[in-house]
Amino acid sequence: MQRRPEDSADLLIDLLADQRSFYRARAPEYDQWWQRRGRYDHGPEDTAEWDRQIQLVIDAVDTFGPLGDVLELAGGTGWWSQHLAETARSLTVVDSSREALRINQERVDRPDVIYIVADIFGWRPNRRYDTVFFSFWLSHVPRRLFEKFWALVGSCLKPGGQAFLIDNRRDPTRTTQDPYVIDEADDVQRRRLSDGSEHRVVKVFYEPGQLADRLRRLGWIADLAGTPRFIYGSAAPGLPAQQSENR
Ligand SMILES: C[S@@+](CC[C@H](N)C(=O)[O-])C[C@H]1O[C@@H](n2cnc3c(N)ncnc32)[C@H](O)[C@@H]1O
Repeated sequence: MQRRPEDSADLLIDLLADQRSFYRARAPEYDQWWQRRGRYDHGPEDTAEWDRQIQLVIDAVDTFGPLGDVLELAGGTGWWSQHLAETARSLTVVDSSREALRINQERVDRPDVIYIVADIFGWRPNRRYDTVFFSFWLSHVPRRLFEKFWALVGSCLKPGGQAFLIDNRRDPTRTTQDPYVIDEADDVQRRRLSDGSEHRVVKVFYEPGQLADRLRRLGWIADLAGTPRFIYGSAAPGLPAQQSENR
């Protein structure tokens, strides 16, 4: 029987390296996906529906209010960084793709934004933040690293700080699949870039309620919602068990 990357540390290391190299190679074409251009253009109705759902997510981010010192994990080419930079007192963006961060820097065009090229699974913060934001990233965290990842998020937050996440949601009503996905099994997608190169990435889809339950078991209080294509919302570390019992 074939071993799944989730079952073996070596296979998982290879898969995560492949995921990093996929996004380095994809950096110049990433924005086509976000802007529904080229091979991601499924017609005006699909684009209008995409824009409508994205606007709901933007409204939720604005209501949340990413203020104070903000850390963005896996910030990529900066679609959300530019938004965060408008309200944050300071913005730090971490990503393993130098190529994506270069595009991010051009887009945000703010000399005060701090960029860190690093692998999130090995990175440790040297300070704390009011907000930790990550979009279209949690679905790339393997299930067996979920707990470790949230421990990292917790270690990045100041007391009273909160995380905000946005991600894809599996929409069973959609008939058009993103054209770069060649196949998918066991939380791994094989994807093809426009130059024909093939890569594997982790892709774990969550439902808002299911993710909130999982986070609750780790001691987080999450307030998550969804549109057909996206899930989004905030999560805050709960009080340690003893403290909450004494309340
Ligand atoms: C789907 S993109 C999301 C980018 C951005 N947050 C957005 O919403 O447009 C995922 C990002 O994760 C980054 N990434 C992949 N593996 C990483 C790792 N191990 N450490 C840090 N960043 C990683 C990629 O370079 C890419 O920019």
